[in-house]
Amino acid sequence: MVAANASNSFYATTPIYYVNAKPHLGHAYTTIVGDALCRWQRLLGKDVHFLTGTDEHGLKIQQAADAAGMAPREFVDSIAPLFADAWRKLDISNDDFIRTTEDRHRIGVQHLLQACYDSGDIELDTYRGLYCVACEAYYVEDDLVSGNCPIHKRPVEHVEEENYFFRLSRYGDRLLDWYAKHPGAIVPEHRMNEVIGFIKQGLLDFSISRTSFSWGIPLPWDSKHITYVWFDALANYITAIGYGVDDAAFSSRWPVDYHLIGKDIIRFHCVYWPAMLMSAGIEPPHGWAVGGWLLVGGEKMSKTTGNVVNPLDLIDESREDGVGVDGFRYYVLADTPYGADGDFTYEGLIGRYNSDLANNLGNLLSRVATVVGKKCDGVGPAPRADSPLADAARSAVAETMARWADVQPSRALEATWQLIRATNAYLEANEPWKAEPGAHVDNVMGDALEALRIVAILASPAIPRTAQIVWDRIGLSGSVADRRVPDDVAWGGYPGGTTVVKGDPLFPRKS
Ligand code: ME8
Ligand code: MG
Repeated sequence: MVAANASNSFYATTPIYYVNAKPHLGHAYTTIVGDALCRWQRLLGKDVHFLTGTDEHGLKIQQAADAAGMAPREFVDSIAPLFADAWRKLDISNDDFIRTTEDRHRIGVQHLLQACYDSGDIELDTYRGLYCVACEAYYVEDDLVSGNCPIHKRPVEHVEEENYFFRLSRYGDRLLDWYAKHPGAIVPEHRMNEVIGFIKQGLLDFSISRTSFSWGIPLPWDSKHITYVWFDALANYITAIGYGVDDAAFSSRWPVDYHLIGKDIIRFHCVYWPAMLMSAGIEPPHGWAVGGWLLVGGEKMSKTTGNVVNPLDLIDESREDGVGVDGFRYYVLADTPYGADGDFTYEGLIGRYNSDLANNLGNLLSRVATVVGKKCDGVGPAPRADSPLADAARSAVAETMARWADVQPSRALEATWQLIRATNAYLEANEPWKAEPGAHVDNVMGDALEALRIVAILASPAIPRTAQIVWDRIGLSGSVADRRVPDDVAWGGYPGGTTVVKGDPLFPRKS
């Protein structure tokens, strides 16, 4: 087995998204969660590697290219940049973006196939059965619902092909043993039970090659066959970090800390993938963080229902419902506990924006800057070591850290926002705006500035732009992202004596 990654490294991945459609809210959701988690890990001082990308081979993509009247290569080249652009606009801090049509990926996939073939787990056989192109998945009769694909509710195809099979059936006990030894590997925990239940039903071999079309990576030992798209796609997580090419780079990152995935692709990621890795002599992932569905108005987004939400529309501040990048990021992170299903609504988006961002955070900064401007000559006083806010800050820090460690961004933000609420309440109790300039005002404002400094650091993974603005306005220099948790969130770090700037409202209220 390949050695475990260095403890100071943190590697996380999103699914690589199919390029048969443009990026939508669901893709943005998983990608933003991954981004915020990685930004948090950078604050912890980890050497972070965050990977996303696009899944560009297979029948589904070939059919989409045909429908667009384009060659597959030309078609995927036209869609993949839409994902890269969307992630840039949403401030996604990915370190790499892999496309499965790249040479580095093909080389790694062929290396992985060869390793599984050499270990005797890939064999030629005849496949007769059912296939759903939309899922790119094989089914047995029992899986069908009223004769249709259980996910897409549309007819499946009968296929009969001579295929190479991966002998997944040999891996049931090995997978069960591995999961028994790694009980926390899948979060949330109930997803682990689902995986174990699935393995216990008995695993079937799956076909890993196709001969009926050509848009894919040829098998290294039999080029009449191209690789099944899921075998190809899953391998991105290792091909992107040097598998088969640069062993040192690969073993410095692998095993991955978290594969972030939606609940639709658990079987591939938590059953097929670790078995493929074991077969090739590679350690399984350290973890999987499985998200629920984000529904739109209570329904699954679909092109037929016409309820597909484009995240880039929502960040356009010139629109009535445009809440800016951080408003959108905050909403998707804070509104749905990761793992549960959530419902996206415009009312919910605007409601969260107004309450948590405009009224709580925005209002706190604006009050503090106004009072410091009027009563402290615009210069921030230093906080008190024995401030009544210090305990609130300590518990917000501890809770925020614990919740990010559980991959629960909504709860981490809730903990950070407790400090914002405590600071607003502290100002209301002390009414510095009514007092004469002097020691009382200075004490209260120093404490509030220190709370804002800590909030800026803790909130930066979710709302990086706003956190930097808060940081700058309270007179601190450098990048908030370069701070370190926990050292820099200990009470008392605000130096005092720096210029505090009022500026425009952080989050103008929306009606
Ligand atoms: O499955 N709510 O790609 P895909 C929440 N290429 N998350 C959603 C969502 C929704 N409504 N819709 C999509 C594939 N997602 C394969 C993956 S990985 C080796 C290959 C997110 O474009 C969620 O993370 O269908 C889901 O797992 C993923 O997008 C599926 O994206
Ligand atoms: Mg899908």
